[in-house]
Amino acid sequence: MTPPVPPRRYLDHPATSWPKPGPVIDAVLHALRDVGAAAGRGIHADARRADALRAGARAAAARIVGADDPQRVALVSGATLGLNVAIHGLVEPGWHVLATAADHNATLRPLQWLADRGMIEFDVVPCDASGRVDPDDVAGAWRPATRMLVFSHASNVTGSLQDAATLARLARERGGLSLLDASQTAGIVPLPAGEAAADVVVAAGHKWLQGPEGGAILFARQGVEPRALVQGGTGTASDDLRMPERFVERLEAGTPDLAALAGLAAAIAWVEQQGIAALAAHGHRLAAACRAGLAALPGVRLLGGGDAKGPPIVGFTVESYDPADVAALLEQIAGVQARAGLHCAALIHRHLGTSGAGSVRLGFGPFNTADDVRAVVAAVASILGHPDSDFSDPFPSPPQVPPWQE
Ligand SMILES: Cc1ncc(COP(=O)(O)O)c(C=O)c1O
Repeated sequence: MTPPVPPRRYLDHPATSWPKPGPVIDAVLHALRDVGAAAGRGIHADARRADALRAGARAAAARIVGADDPQRVALVSGATLGLNVAIHGLVEPGWHVLATAADHNATLRPLQWLADRGMIEFDVVPCDASGRVDPDDVAGAWRPATRMLVFSHASNVTGSLQDAATLARLARERGGLSLLDASQTAGIVPLPAGEAAADVVVAAGHKWLQGPEGGAILFARQGVEPRALVQGGTGTASDDLRMPERFVERLEAGTPDLAALAGLAAAIAWVEQQGIAALAAHGHRLAAACRAGLAALPGVRLLGGGDAKGPPIVGFTVESYDPADVAALLEQIAGVQARAGLHCAALIHRHLGTSGAGSVRLGFGPFNTADDVRAVVAAVASILGHPDSDFSDPFPSPPQVPPWQE
């Protein structure tokens, strides 16, 4: 007899959120089923509906990044593209750029690509053993030729949060630009706005913002003008073989992914309706309980300090086990879907002591429950041979942490 299949427990939110809230799915379906036109291309009724959907997404994205003017917000197909546009479109030959050890390959690889071709020099500011970067270290690494500071708002490995406002101010005071990768914070951490905002902010729509893949945000302050990396049709000024100068048109060549943008708009509205603070509190309650349960198991090493202000991510390793095996066993034993490895962020692992095989990563989203935490802790206990270990369950009974606002 085959053993019963455990229920699916999705805890891979830092990679992408799931399930998507109902209104997000409805918005995607509405765009696909009812709108049927390319945004920015035409004046017939469906084209106008498509334009309205895209304008709604832009306005919602502007609210999330705290931009007064939605026309400073380009909607791109992913954070990776947005970060590439920001880096390749802004840096000039001869610049020195600073990045941090807690960053993702979505920024480190474009910087390395430029450095390999002798176009820039870049240095990586180290982080501490929890993934935090000390602004004094950034100040210490700043050179006369430094023109840009690139940093991830929160580590996608440990959830540790950087002091984005201080880092952006530090760059500005030294006459450089700041590029904030908010992919692991938009939707779960309020982004610094106004004067405290970075010069350029890029955010994935499909992670903590709960949107579909295919929609991401690229904001740049007025006067910070990335060049167009991709040239093509914009639906405007078509008799000019050069790209339009206007910010959003310059950066949005090609037919937009309307379904993704409709989903992004609905997702942001949903996040706003629930409240970032409430979503974060829910995730952190689960993450803190999970950390406490895992910490009690001999052989488990937790990564990072469990930053209660960052995204609710729990990173850990299990003594004598390859993280990939732990993730596979978690799924086999308890249906827990986790990610193992380096998480596209190899440098931080050098500071965590997890280079090589990396770590196991869990993230707690709106629809996760106390049961998911219990399942994780029990599964890790059984991997370690302590199936009866006593997890002092911090949740009230009957549970008061329901699937998010069912
Ligand atoms: C910190 C960080 N930056 C950038 C990205 C890239 O996002 P995407 O793969 O959606 O382009 C990710 C996704 O894993 C991330 O965690």
